[in-house]
Amino acid sequence: MQHTTIYHNPDCPTSRNTLAMIRNAGVEPRIVEYLKNPPDRATLRALIDAMGLSPRELLRRKGTPHDELGLDDAHWSDDQLLDFMLRHPLLINRPIVATPWGTRLCRPSERVLDILPLPQRAAFSKEDGEPVVDGQGRRVAWPDLPHLDAAAFQPPDRARLWPEQRATHPPRVLLLYGSVRERSYSRLLTEEAARLLQAQGAHTRIFDPRGLPQPDGAPDDHPKVRELRQLAQWSEAMVWCSPERHGALSSILKAQIDWIPLEVGALRPTQGKALAVMQVSGGSQSFNAVNQMRVLGRWMRMLTIPNQSSVAKAYQEFDEAGRMKPSPYYERVVDVMEELVKFTWLTRDASPYLVDRYSERRETAQALSRRMAQASL
Ligand SMILES: Cc1cc2nc3c(=O)[nH]c(=O)nc-3n(C[C@H](O)[C@H](O)[C@H](O)COP(=O)(O)O)c2cc1C
Repeated sequence: MQHTTIYHNPDCPTSRNTLAMIRNAGVEPRIVEYLKNPPDRATLRALIDAMGLSPRELLRRKGTPHDELGLDDAHWSDDQLLDFMLRHPLLINRPIVATPWGTRLCRPSERVLDILPLPQRAAFSKEDGEPVVDGQGRRVAWPDLPHLDAAAFQPPDRARLWPEQRATHPPRVLLLYGSVRERSYSRLLTEEAARLLQAQGAHTRIFDPRGLPQPDGAPDDHPKVRELRQLAQWSEAMVWCSPERHGALSSILKAQIDWIPLEVGALRPTQGKALAVMQVSGGSQSFNAVNQMRVLGRWMRMLTIPNQSSVAKAYQEFDEAGRMKPSPYYERVVDVMEELVKFTWLTRDASPYLVDRYSERRETAQALSRRMAQASL
């Protein structure tokens, strides 16, 4: 059987990607490093004819004496252009691959797949990360995306979305409320929510905001700040329950969120975690606080569930013992807690991956290459 031959430049990524795809088909080609061993005139002519190109179409411009020699000038004949290529092999574009199925100039490198007699054995991505073939040997459709950094771009990885090993421990839920009043309805509603979570097998912790300093009003190692941060880190989901005050969430609820950093080293206390929002108010029905907490949840990169609870005229909804009376409001709280537990089970194994961002992967890669460049100085 006729050999596969690649006219190769090891310094060229396109040439290296092409060679790697030939090998990924289980073929070890004859490698001609044509800058060191240029083809003779008859071979070069035969290759050009087999590719159906003219000598002019095989000329390479980038990094060559092309412009210096004025090769754009139409008066050069095919024979003269061949002479130039034989004298300056850099002018021969690359890589040229000849197989029993045909001869091609493999630019882009995946053109080689059209003439390889054997299929790809494994998934293949180019050196810059652009995927070419998936695990089943199928060509990956890659639209024209000139501004995309293919090394940082990641189409969804199903194994990370649905890991084989799923956690089975009880969901861990942290509940925050936004009042320090003795008989606080946002606290009573939070305690009601915690019971409903426990009834579904969840572990719950309620943070007591009393004694928490103002944001930046104490060092990070203040015991209440430490406690809050540890609970946030421990949790896999959260409930935020605020009173409505002057048409907004309370500063007490907001202060708790402000003390939770988006990132502490590799730890991300909120990112990718499920969140349910609830509010109590003194007036008739209002949604200002829950709407604002949704904005906050987005800011903390949390997965705020669709359902929410807003208990109007909260002073009418709790009995002397502090328990919530039966009502449509109570039923809504049950709905919200059921939904929160389902979302927690569904997402907690993949939560860091769900909020993993292309722009941040890019930034990290750029910072790393800057550090490497500095280290090599
Ligand atoms: C200063 C202040 C502002 C308030 N603003 C609103 C408001 O804008 N809308 C509303 O419906 N209730 C408002 N209320 C009523 C509270 O939402 C209500 O008393 C609630 O139960 C307080 O929460 P807590 O019981 O957890 O402390 C306000 C109460 C206070 C003291």
